[in-house]
Parts: sequence; C-alpha cells; structure tokens
Amino acid sequence: MPNHLLDLSGLDQGKLEALLRTAAHFKQTRYRGTDLSGKTVALLFEKPSLRTRTTLEVATVHLGGHALYLDSRQVGLGVREPVYDVAKNLGRWVEAIAARVNKHESVIELAEHSGVPVINALSDAHHPLQALADLLTLRERFGRLEGLRLAYVGDGNNVLASLLEAAALAGVEVVVSTPEGYEPDPALLERAGARLVRDPYEAVRGAHAVYTDVWTSMGQEEEAERRRRDFAGYTVTPQLMAAAGEESIFLHCLPAHYGEEVVEEVVRGPQSKVFDQAENRLHTVKAVLAHLVGGRPWSG
Ligand code: CP
Ligand code: NVA
Repeated sequence: MPNHLLDLSGLDQGKLEALLRTAAHFKQTRYRGTDLSGKTVALLFEKPSLRTRTTLEVATVHLGGHALYLDSRQVGLGVREPVYDVAKNLGRWVEAIAARVNKHESVIELAEHSGVPVINALSDAHHPLQALADLLTLRERFGRLEGLRLAYVGDGNNVLASLLEAAALAGVEVVVSTPEGYEPDPALLERAGARLVRDPYEAVRGAHAVYTDVWTSMGQEEEAERRRRDFAGYTVTPQLMAAAGEESIFLHCLPAHYGEEVVEEVVRGPQSKVFDQAENRLHTVKAVLAHLVGGRPWSG
C-alpha cells in the first residue's frame, strides 16, 4: 500500500516531526541526493500554480529524480477520460503523482487506483504541502511549535483546513476569525480545539502569527463581488498587525489579492515572513518526496 499525502489526517506526531526535521536538515545542508534516482513524479495540475509546481519540480531534481508536468487541458482529467483510467495509466509509468485538482474526490480516486504514492498539491478541501511549510516557518521563528498561538483572519478555506490539521498535530493554538457563513468545517475546528472569534482585532490579540489567504479561491471567481462585500473589515492592515503586537509575524500562502485580504505594506513590512514561508515550500516538499517516494525511513 503506497504512502499518500491527501490531507494531514493520515500523519501522526512522529511522522510530522520527521518531515519537519528532514526539511530543516535539507535546508541547512542545501541537500542534493539520489533519493529519487530513476524515478518520475507526474505533476497533474487542473489549476495554475507558481510555488507548488516550481518547488515540486526543483525538489524532484534535487533528489535526483525527474518531474513531468501534465497540463490538465491536455489530460482532461474526468473529461477526456475518467479519473480511474488516468490513475490506472499513470501508475504504469511513474513512481508518484502530485495532483492539483478542482474536486478533492479526484485525488482520493487517483490514490485508490494508481498504485503509486499520491500527493495533494491543493484541492478545494485541503492544501497539506502549504501547512507543512507554515509549521517550519513558525518553528524557525519561535524555536518551538507547542503552545504558539496563530490567528487566522479570512476565509475558512482549503488552506485553513490543512492549517487546522497541522496545528492540532503540533500543539499550536488557532483562533479563527471569519465572517458569518465562511467558517471552516466545525468538526475540523473541534478536532483542532480552535476558537472562532468574529472580531479580527480580538482574534489577533497576543497571537504569535497572523495568517490570511485570499477571499476568493481559484474556481470561485464568480463569487468575487459578493465575497468582497461579505469580507469587508477582515483585511490585514498595519493597524491589525500593530494590534497583534510587534513580535507577531505575518503569514500568507500567496498569491495575495492586494487590497482585499491584505495590503501590500503588510506583506512587504517588517513583520512579514511570507517569502521565508514560500522558500520553505521547497524544503518541506523535498522532505515529503524523500519519505513518501524515496523510502527515507521515518525514524532515525
Ligand atoms: N501557495 C501556493 O500553493 O501557491 P501556488 O498556487 O502558486 O502554487
Ligand atoms: N485558497 C487558495 C490558495 C491558493 C494557494 C486557492 O485555493 O485558490
């Protein structure tokens, strides 16, 4: 049974710790290896990407493997042929699949039928690779994860879902601030022991980190107008960062929609760690590939 990373629910604390430790080691040593020697990773993307695609490709190269980008317009996942058939075909040729999909069910189906490890490179429900980089960034800044408090201000979306799962494993306390109707799955909130606070100013008070993501995710473009109205007052501004406190850092998975969930001044300001976060996407995905595809042991 191959290892998959569809969300973070399949990880335990030991595996999470191994991934973060390997990622930190890779970063520190500028690791180049042969973990994926002779192996091909198919990158099947139904949505655009800068960070996820680039870091998957670069990480695969650093590990001695080959990455094959497959444009979904050519593949026609579920359109030109069923996901089942795509999974069965790819599994005969490549050693792993990283997929960015419209519907989370598609990564589940790829995992069920391909016979090779499948990594979720973002779905409508989860973004596990992002949350791993987020944890590494937090740990670098504060030297620990346990007991940190993170305030997430904005849409209760895929990025937040993975962040909640990651935080639950790592002992990070999450305070979520969304407008009514945009809350994350209550079961996820509960599992993470996260609190919901409507007022963003109250939510960020005493937080080690303030995190936001776009109000309109890829695929929701038709709702953009309504969302801009519904999210009024939830923009991360220098005033909100000041309310969090000088020591608090700002995080965003990027890309940002400037003037909506955040203003440029915050992303380029002294509290921002967003480009460290983006850099850490490389080191963490490299760790994921080394453990899941390269067979690197989880312990030791
Ligand atoms: N944060 C992130 O996943 O960025 P991309 O959409 O550019 O991959
Ligand atoms: N929530 C965003 C994240 C992009 C990295 C989206 O799904 O479009």
